[in-house]
Amino acid sequence: MTEVVTTEVIDGIALITINNPPVNALSQAVRQGIQDAVIASEADDAVQAIVILGQGRAFIAGADIKEFGKPLMEPNLPDLCTRIEASPKPLVASMHGVSLGGGLEIALGCHYRVATPDARVGLPEVHLGLIPGAGGTQRLSRLVGSEVAIEAISSGRHIKASEALSLGIIDDIAQGDPRENGLAFARKLLSDGKSRRAVSELPAPKAIDWDASYNALLKKGRGQLSPAYAVRGVQAASERPFAEGIKEERRLFTELMQTDQRQGMIHTFFSERAVSNLPELKGVSPRALDSIGVIGGGTMGAGIATAALLAGLPVTLLEMSPEAAEAAKGRIEGNLQGALKRGKISQDQFTTLTETALTPATDYSALAQVDLVIEAVFEDMRVKKEVFGKLDAICKPGAILASNTSYLDVNEIAAATSRPQDVIGLHFFSPAHVMKLLEIVVPDQTAPDVVATGFALGKALKKISVRSGVCDGFIGNRILSTYRAAADHMVLDGASPFDIDTAVTGFGFPMGPFAVSDLAGLDIGWAVRKRKRAEGLPKGARDTEYADKLCEAGHFGQKTGTGYYIYEKGKRGGTPNPAVTELIAAERQEKGLTPRSFDAAEIMRRYMAAMVNEAAKIVGEGIARRPLDVDMVLLFGYGFPRYRGGPLKWADLQGLPKILQDLEDLAQENPHFWEPAPLLKQLVAEGRSFDDLNKEA
Ligand code: CAA
Repeated sequence: MTEVVTTEVIDGIALITINNPPVNALSQAVRQGIQDAVIASEADDAVQAIVILGQGRAFIAGADIKEFGKPLMEPNLPDLCTRIEASPKPLVASMHGVSLGGGLEIALGCHYRVATPDARVGLPEVHLGLIPGAGGTQRLSRLVGSEVAIEAISSGRHIKASEALSLGIIDDIAQGDPRENGLAFARKLLSDGKSRRAVSELPAPKAIDWDASYNALLKKGRGQLSPAYAVRGVQAASERPFAEGIKEERRLFTELMQTDQRQGMIHTFFSERAVSNLPELKGVSPRALDSIGVIGGGTMGAGIATAALLAGLPVTLLEMSPEAAEAAKGRIEGNLQGALKRGKISQDQFTTLTETALTPATDYSALAQVDLVIEAVFEDMRVKKEVFGKLDAICKPGAILASNTSYLDVNEIAAATSRPQDVIGLHFFSPAHVMKLLEIVVPDQTAPDVVATGFALGKALKKISVRSGVCDGFIGNRILSTYRAAADHMVLDGASPFDIDTAVTGFGFPMGPFAVSDLAGLDIGWAVRKRKRAEGLPKGARDTEYADKLCEAGHFGQKTGTGYYIYEKGKRGGTPNPAVTELIAAERQEKGLTPRSFDAAEIMRRYMAAMVNEAAKIVGEGIARRPLDVDMVLLFGYGFPRYRGGPLKWADLQGLPKILQDLEDLAQENPHFWEPAPLLKQLVAEGRSFDDLNKEA
């Protein structure tokens, strides 16, 4: 076995190199190795200075996240940082790639820091539901002051070397490799006669209005604790001697370590990486993907085209008329203007993307040579079939034919072609160049390399891609329609849409379901309701009409200025629309329903029970391969709070027997709607969790 930490001595300088691929995470073996190497170097009379560096792509990416939740193993990270700092010999961190979390804390424990120009540093623990726990809040705040430290720790952002230098986090930037840089820096230290220097001995950071900062961050994080806790860590640095501050930081860190939020965030960290890693695609190479076609240049088609252009893919955009093609081009230019303004692309790139990489067209023959076509036309099976028939006739053999449908049967669409093996669903979320989620909908006959290409496209577009089987609404919209139905039932029984939205945002969603409908356009839900009524409502469904009446009166939400809420120009958000309350009251009266009250806890009990139950059905039916797939869909497409890890992780944390009991109780009211998913019953009977299924997959 290769050693994870090695030491060599050159010209009186000990080079301690960490070699723990892929990112030099601080596993127990690495911590032990660093500690042993520092002690040995101190004892070696030939050594005058010590350099710590990382092999491979990073200095150190932080603590080993896989060890979280397991019993702590010595040496612990805070003690290691303290031990490093106490070294009587000058100690240099020579950084490259990323130095994150515990990695930066090790560097802050060193006496000097030099980094390559492309290095990035940061304390991203908040994204794992934690704060730095090895002196990060104490040492960083001593270097950069309270406000900058709070901003850096509570955002968890990666700080580029140039900014780190100007903030005083690092001492120098050097062009060479970390080994040469470390040696050169240490040589200079020795020739200049410089000795050890400890960050912990710098003056404490100044006081600020700690409570104001804490409360503002709690609000901004929609209930997420860790960014706000960062304030308390820095406060301790300001108010207490270093050794006491370290203890307080550790106490805060340990408290967060025990929370569901920490478990939710870490589940998210691993799931967002695992989600696109499908066992069935191991060894399957994607097809070539050098150009794409998009049919339809409305908001969705233009968004997809924008995302593809930004990923460097030339796009042929097909519209019905030259005027429509021109309008679509205008939409794409508008999207790219946004990227230009945010500095994501240069003016030259903007010109190339809009003038060279984008080809508007009005004839299907323009799509003859593209590798993949995505249609984003009107949601109507007849229209889709016509489009796919034309594509079948014109596209080159092996080209992938994709539909952006959000609920139609992709098997049926595939059957409209002579090459169903090349057909797939690519369900983007609007605005497609912004939203992270991509559902890759796989019909029965799709070839594995077509699925692999879907995932390759998702990766190129920097999306979180999730595989879904074919069903009405796929993973996301099918779950949405169930929890939305639970909300509508509550409205009939006495809750107001506004109370429901408040309860849902209180849970941590950015918006409640009614505000979301206003944003998406109430006509969309109206069309879905009409279609579902025509198909025949499922058993247990309770139809509601007040929303139809809103639409009949021309209130389609934000785009018309009124929906569930009334929107005033120039103001953010809306105020409850009293007409909605009247329509609901009339419907209750007509149906002979006596309204009762629902508090926020009851609202969320029902909302979440509906969400979890539908999600469990989707996993049980194999529509989603793993529970984590559902979690990622809700997180990246529907605003589920990241710190809760997704509905099925949340359900695990509540305890599945409790969720099942809730469903059984609710089923007394409406047995069909609340019938517990077979998979949920099975897991409870076996004493297992959804996460157990993730691990088995
Ligand atoms: N511990 C364990 N594994 C880690 C890890 C860590 N800290 N960081 C990354 N990895 C793993 C990933 O899970 C991934 O594994 P697989 O290949 O098996 O999926 C692999 O390393 C490569 O990671 P990415 O795919 O994410 O590669 P990337 O190049 O896109 O990003 C990165 C690299 C910027 C380091 C990114 O992985 C990242 O942000 N990691 C988390 C860093 C972090 O949060 N550090 C703080 C940890 S908490 C702490 O240190 C404080 C404490 O006291 C507890």
